[in-house]
Amino acid sequence: MKVLVVFYSMYGHVYRLAEAVAQGAREVVGADVVLRRVPEILPEEVLEKMGATTPQKAFAQVPVCTVDELAAADAILFGTPTRFGNMCGQMRQFLDATGGLWLSGALVGKVGSVFASSATQHGGQESTILTFHVTLLHQGMIVAGLPYAFQGQMRNDEITGGSPYGASTIAGTQGERKPSENELAAARFQGRHVATIAAKLTR
Ligand SMILES: Cc1cc2nc3c(=O)[nH]c(=O)nc-3n(C[C@H](O)[C@H](O)[C@H](O)COP(=O)(O)O)c2cc1C
Repeated sequence: MKVLVVFYSMYGHVYRLAEAVAQGAREVVGADVVLRRVPEILPEEVLEKMGATTPQKAFAQVPVCTVDELAAADAILFGTPTRFGNMCGQMRQFLDATGGLWLSGALVGKVGSVFASSATQHGGQESTILTFHVTLLHQGMIVAGLPYAFQGQMRNDEITGGSPYGASTIAGTQGERKPSENELAAARFQGRHVATIAAKLTR
């Protein structure tokens, strides 16, 4: 059973979540887990001005995803930073290249799930994940979130990302905050949860 974790990250927050998601998925017996990033579409000079050049080196070794890899997976977990309450343009552009998969129904019946990051606590993590789900539903995917069985999303003793829609992290307005232990635990839970469903569907 193949699990694909595919993300875009500018400053490393979504990448850290993606690694935790992959780690959780690998805990499921029989899961063959692959980590990929979507192609960058911004020019080097823009990335430099945005302060992304150095942080992106930390995950430059992650192979760039192809559309065919989506079709080959049994479950796909997508990670994106929030852009005005929606997914980032890099992810949108990648998904907009999947018209052929939509036409052939290649993703129908696969499990799809989303995790996210935003700068501020209420900056649109939930809207990013929920609006992303619309694309997955158009592709005929079975949408999975982060069940409340992950008890860490109940806590009020610290600021935390994570909702029934998916794992998330709060990056801080300068990207200064790192994913917390609770947010990483949510990401691992989501990866394990999706891989467990995929294992049942492919039995
Ligand atoms: C064009 C743009 C729009 C953004 N829109 C939002 C937003 O609506 N809400 C928010 O909290 N953060 C917003 N951010 C901040 C990013 O979500 C934040 O940098 C990202 O989650 C960090 O994740 P990364 O390190 O994986 O890139 C925006 C950033 C950019 C560049």
